[in-house]
Amino acid sequence: MFSPKTISRRHALKQLTALAGAPLAANLLAQALADNNSPANGLSNSVSLGDEASRKGILYGSAVGKASLSLDQPYAELIARQCKIVVPESEMKWKTLRPTPDRYVFDAGDWIVRWAESHGIVVHGTALVWHEALPAWFEGYANKNNARELMVNHIKTVVGHYVGKMHSWDVVNEGLLETGLRDTPFLRLIGPEYMDLAFQTTAEADPKAIRVYNDMYVEESNNDVKRRLLLKLLEDMLSRKVPVQALGIQGHLRSDMGGFDAKKLRAFLRQVAGLGLQIFITELDMRDQSPANDVGTRDAAIARYCEDFLSTVLEEKAVTVVISWGLTDRYTWLSGKAPRSDGQPVRPLPFDQNLAPKPVFAAMAKAFDDAPNR
Ligand code: G3I
Repeated sequence: MFSPKTISRRHALKQLTALAGAPLAANLLAQALADNNSPANGLSNSVSLGDEASRKGILYGSAVGKASLSLDQPYAELIARQCKIVVPESEMKWKTLRPTPDRYVFDAGDWIVRWAESHGIVVHGTALVWHEALPAWFEGYANKNNARELMVNHIKTVVGHYVGKMHSWDVVNEGLLETGLRDTPFLRLIGPEYMDLAFQTTAEADPKAIRVYNDMYVEESNNDVKRRLLLKLLEDMLSRKVPVQALGIQGHLRSDMGGFDAKKLRAFLRQVAGLGLQIFITELDMRDQSPANDVGTRDAAIARYCEDFLSTVLEEKAVTVVISWGLTDRYTWLSGKAPRSDGQPVRPLPFDQNLAPKPVFAAMAKAFDDAPNR
């Protein structure tokens, strides 16, 4: 079917998109792609998701970890081949950067930035202000008198350290619930103005890096309230001239949460774009909780779900960045966070544990190929 030597990108993509279209065919594709001897493995050498996305003016990439990137050469080569943007999964969070209140440790983040620069890949940072991944000292140290200075100094120091090297930053992450602002230490100790202050401080420290407000479960069909509150949050920030430039929709897709409603999501994205904001999909992966126990059926279901979501969001030209929360099942947070009840390894990402492309790879390639030009 495919011979890696002669496979052209166009031919490979044509074959992929032809096969990835129909559920039955996805099973065939699953077999072809999963088979390690299959010439189809040549696909990931011929078709790069980053290249496919770039042709439409979209940046595609993945979360990465310094440990895997520095120690797993085949994985590093796959990231370099497939990605145009990377985000350090943990290396730029408070817990990694701040071992003590007066020390910053940038080594791991610096290593990833250098690796990315050497491969012509841009870097998205996460997260300047987030209620999780805070160092152990934070709770006992931060108080109403020092929290404002603590947050401002953190942002100034970290954004200043990477000034000119960052494509974008998640300035505030997961600050909103369906009940209103999330009760975080920053809200409690600084007040609701903490978000405005975080964006203003980031803009002063690096005017060029795109400033993102990032949140989760925005796409779920039954989360109308969250989408309404999120739109209001962004409208109010912009009315106060807060320099937010993009909405980050994490995209941790969970078919067990009712899935997403394409019509509602399209309308919401249009409203966000109408505010003049870019939209990033920042943490795309698919929970693999299907009761089916055969890999082909599971892979096909995930591929269909991912293609439905991605083709819906990419219709909106304000969506300019798509980042998978990992590129291969070899490294995914879901292995620990959401293991399968049958004990089988989870399969949420475009490449399997052997770095072979899966139906979701084909689905993503097709979604990028079908997307309108930006
Ligand atoms: O690096 C240390 C290691 O030295 C230590 O031995 C080990 C055991 O304690 O912990 C390691 O740090 C872990 C880190 O991931 C790096 O692997 C932390 O404990 C662990 O909490 C951390 O989890 C990350 C989590 O964010 C918290 O930062 C996950 O990998 C990462 O996938 C997850 O990503 C979040 C996004 O940032 C925001 N949206 C939700 C998403 C999933 O929770």
